[in-house]
Amino acid sequence: MNRIERLLSSMTLGEKLGQLTMTACGYAVTGPTIAGDSTAAIKSGAIGNLLNLVGASDVHEMQKLAVEQSRLGIPLLIGYDVVHGHRTLFPVPLGEAALFDPVAWELTAREAAKEAAADGLALTFAPMLDVSRDPRWGRSAEGPGEDPWLGTCIAAAKVRGFQGDDLSKADALAACAKHYCAYGPVTAGREYASVDISERTVLEVHLPPFVSAVHAGVAAIMPAFTDLAGVPMTANTAMLRGWLREKLGFNGVIISDYNAIAELIHHGIAADKPAAAALALKAGVDIDMMADAYRHGLPIALERGLVTLEEIDAAVRRVLELKERLGLFDDPYRRGARSENAADLQNRRQRSREIGARSIVMLKNAEAALPLTGRVKRLALLGPLADASAEMRGPWWGAAGATGQVTVLEGLRASFPAAQITHAAGVPIADDDVSGMSAALQCCEGTDAIVLCVGEAAAMSGEAASRAHLGLPGVQRAFCEVVFARARQLHIPVIVVLFSGRPLVVPWLIEAADAVLAAWFPGSEAGNAIGDLISGRSSPSGRTAVSWPRAAGQVPIFFGERPSGRPAAAGDHFTSKYLDVANDPLFPFGFGLTYGKFELSKLRVTPRSASQSQSIEARIEVANGGARAAEETLFLFTHDVLASVARPLLELRAFGKIKLAPGARGTVTLSFAASELRFLGINLQPVFEFGDVEILVGPCADRSKLLSAVVHLVP
Ligand code: BGC
Repeated sequence: MNRIERLLSSMTLGEKLGQLTMTACGYAVTGPTIAGDSTAAIKSGAIGNLLNLVGASDVHEMQKLAVEQSRLGIPLLIGYDVVHGHRTLFPVPLGEAALFDPVAWELTAREAAKEAAADGLALTFAPMLDVSRDPRWGRSAEGPGEDPWLGTCIAAAKVRGFQGDDLSKADALAACAKHYCAYGPVTAGREYASVDISERTVLEVHLPPFVSAVHAGVAAIMPAFTDLAGVPMTANTAMLRGWLREKLGFNGVIISDYNAIAELIHHGIAADKPAAAALALKAGVDIDMMADAYRHGLPIALERGLVTLEEIDAAVRRVLELKERLGLFDDPYRRGARSENAADLQNRRQRSREIGARSIVMLKNAEAALPLTGRVKRLALLGPLADASAEMRGPWWGAAGATGQVTVLEGLRASFPAAQITHAAGVPIADDDVSGMSAALQCCEGTDAIVLCVGEAAAMSGEAASRAHLGLPGVQRAFCEVVFARARQLHIPVIVVLFSGRPLVVPWLIEAADAVLAAWFPGSEAGNAIGDLISGRSSPSGRTAVSWPRAAGQVPIFFGERPSGRPAAAGDHFTSKYLDVANDPLFPFGFGLTYGKFELSKLRVTPRSASQSQSIEARIEVANGGARAAEETLFLFTHDVLASVARPLLELRAFGKIKLAPGARGTVTLSFAASELRFLGINLQPVFEFGDVEILVGPCADRSKLLSAVVHLVP
């Protein structure tokens, strides 16, 4: 008998349920405490897993209670939301998506894992893989953006990065892909609201990133809080047991979201905790996070005959297996045994700076307002986000302190050491206090340029942060307008740095500014990353991973829409359009300016006729006709022109990058397997249909900017 079976055969019911329980830690002056319970619960084996505990010595202290003082000595599994860095923060995930660089996506997860593991942790509740096409939903900031295929690329890179090549290593974290699945299309973009979308959309849009995570070997999965057409994910047997376990062969651990099992009562599908616990266990949830429904409810559910001991044992077995894979039985103190050295930390900060700069999307640069060169002698730095260390973290800041981020003020001082920089916030982020406005205007006098830092506070995106108005909060718009007016009188340019966890609907701002950098939330090195771009030390290369709306009424907005029977046509009334705004986004998916000037030509696609087993390759020539070195990103989309089920107008299949010096040219090759052109037919089964498929290559999802060719699919 192996270790796990031996343990199982000697465990009491209480000890088994302890392994299925995850409880949050709080901190008292004296050290870590456990909410609503005492450390006695760990010693008695009634709690087997913890969350929200960081710091090697505190983790080891708790671990000691389990390993040395509980009857069976089973180590604790301790998890934390390491979403975009732990103590050193990288850009929020939506910002990082803008890099379109799997190597970087993997690297930031690897670095975060090393840092979190050095803090004693063994599990992260990441990556967050919810495709989001509705910027009202605050959690858009945590995820991969609007495109399912992009989500699959990010999923694989993140799982590899967090978990490394061997989960038992001292610097590996178990990843937990979340929130499975279809959490993004909550009704009206409102957090935790019901989801009711077609099975096809679930399978084609929301499932693929999770399939990719499973294929990459993800250790755990967290069901979403939400219901899908009336069946909460926490109790969704078809999605958990059916899809995850049976169809995808996932045999890792399923961890409920925070209190989600008890919330089955609010959803209206369970009368009490025992019933809720039974539904979740039956559906396939192994660990109960924070509801205490398994611990207290499953014994009653057993008595009622709602669950069997075998079902409980199967869940316990999976939890113990994960602990074993993590090496926790062999050495529960391995993670956090050594602290990281200063050079590693320094190197990580440097990576954060580079990746921060690469996540920033330049939305406008009229008359080459950027970069500001050395001739700038005096700069006015304005706005509530100009000197805001805590906000630079964005949502889910891990264990990063409020003061550890480089602010824009600090970054610009370092980037322009010879310039005189005057600074004022002007107005707060969200309140309507205008008393600081006139002092801010004073700062503009005699300066060569204004850098205006506006946007959302970190906590305005992330969980429980839906917004119905997608403009600048508070009185920031009024402030910006007086700044623009003054700048026009003074004939000086205004560079806007926009911070947000979602694309903000601010067409007036983009119109009035000379240059706009969408900075998302860049993390620990925010100010330096921004300084690098503004000074021209780095060249902007980020590309938005979400369509950027003109009006909030356009959402949900995404490039992968299906064709209408009445496509929009100017002057033709009965076509698919708005009376008051254009259909297209202000900035399409993939948009982002650079300091170069790229021209694309000569798209060559081979073969011109392809069977399912072939690979399709597109080559395109790129020339930089600009005056500065820059990096261009190319996207390859397909459109299946005629199919048994209408296919999206564009489907992303590949992306690639090329760096070119001024005047230089080069070739970018993008390829994908023809088998990817399979889709779910009328009966939701995969089909490969013969006929013409358009291959479109270019800088973003705006069809008018894409070069195209046709490939004929054959048997
Ligand atoms: C969130 C999860 C998170 C968990 C633990 C929940 O409220 O939805 O994403 O992992 O809390 O912090």
